[in-house]
Amino acid sequence: MVRRIPHGHNPRLEAKLTDTVVHSIRRLYTMDPEREGLGIIEDAAVAIEAGSIAWVGPSKQAPEGRRTVDASGLVGLPGLVDPHTHSVWAGSRADEFGQRLAGANYADILEAGGGILSTVRATRSATSDDLVSYAQTRLAHMRTRGVTTAEVKSGYGLSPEHEQVLLGAANPALHCIDVVRTFLGAHTIPAEYRHKRSAYVDQVIHEQLPLCAPHADFVDVYCDRGAFDVDEAVAILKAGQSHGLRVRAHAEQVTHTGIAEAAAELGATALDHLEHVSSEGIAAMAAAGTVAVLLPGAQLYLRDSPPPVNALREAGVPMAVGTDLNPGSSPVHDLWTAATLSMLIAGLTMEEAILGITRHAAAALGLSDRGWIGVGMRGDLALFEPPVGEPATVESLLQHMGRPGAKIVLCSQALVG
Ligand code: NIG
Ligand code: FE
Repeated sequence: MVRRIPHGHNPRLEAKLTDTVVHSIRRLYTMDPEREGLGIIEDAAVAIEAGSIAWVGPSKQAPEGRRTVDASGLVGLPGLVDPHTHSVWAGSRADEFGQRLAGANYADILEAGGGILSTVRATRSATSDDLVSYAQTRLAHMRTRGVTTAEVKSGYGLSPEHEQVLLGAANPALHCIDVVRTFLGAHTIPAEYRHKRSAYVDQVIHEQLPLCAPHADFVDVYCDRGAFDVDEAVAILKAGQSHGLRVRAHAEQVTHTGIAEAAAELGATALDHLEHVSSEGIAAMAAAGTVAVLLPGAQLYLRDSPPPVNALREAGVPMAVGTDLNPGSSPVHDLWTAATLSMLIAGLTMEEAILGITRHAAAALGLSDRGWIGVGMRGDLALFEPPVGEPATVESLLQHMGRPGAKIVLCSQALVG
């Protein structure tokens, strides 16, 4: 649990200097669950001490800082959290994009040995240095859009050694934003196991997991046509749990399988996609406190129907939004674009979209120290310049897709221009 002290005036803290005080934030959206709505403070200041937020309140009452940052005219938000990315891959699927535009189906392409399998071939032939460098470039771009934490999956290696290399390339120590790692050895059946799928499930459980679990936070599985069935998926998720990993899954994306109920019963932290989730799946998620991660980039690129957002909302399932950055189903690098699409094609409200890339996204990664701004939270603060002529509001940032620029991000103690 984070330490909580009253907001605003705090004489004890005001008496001493803090490391950094960001002041004159035109409008700060704290996303603090204990404040009303999105927790807005006008003309706000945030003090950061040793990487944590030490004070939040009106600029006029701000404590002094050794370093000050003038955020006049800017919109403040907690550093954004992208709860679902596949940022480590090599190769291109632009040819497949052309085939899909001409009418080919994503699952058919995969079953014919393309799709994810074509990225597996390219990724296996890349050097680990290349994979690190590609991931660094992708995550550095995310930071320019205000993202301070991203989930990164393996899943294009599909062998013990290759999966370990991918998780190594996602090592947070190599990146300019914080990374939560997910083991996705069960992304699909690799070509060499095409006719012996149970042997591949055994390999994931008995060879890949023991090697990879120490380098991951989550276990994930793609349960769908062209990938794993519910029994296989549950066996893999349970094995991941026995290695101390939290559970999530690519669930109910292209076809309905029933994995949502099964994974929620295992206590899944999050379930992702959900275009074809049933009411039983939603009820199980609500009962388990599982977060729904919406991935409108994949919905758009695969021309899929939206997830049942009304039913998720009515059931009280928290909804997060991710880019699903990958070379095939969602070549979307920008979390703001994903948030805007979540409203336009999935039906979230603006408030839900912002929650989806902050507090609910952190919850989807099981992180209680970020996603909103309050005393004791990680010092991740993103400041955005509104599009020219627009007010400093999240409504403007969300409407002007692709435009909001992160002027400054404080990622723990690193101040970045
Ligand atoms: O989240 N559907 C499964 N996994 C990814 C796609 C990965 C790929 O196509 O390379 C997804 O959509
Ligand atoms: Fe994905």
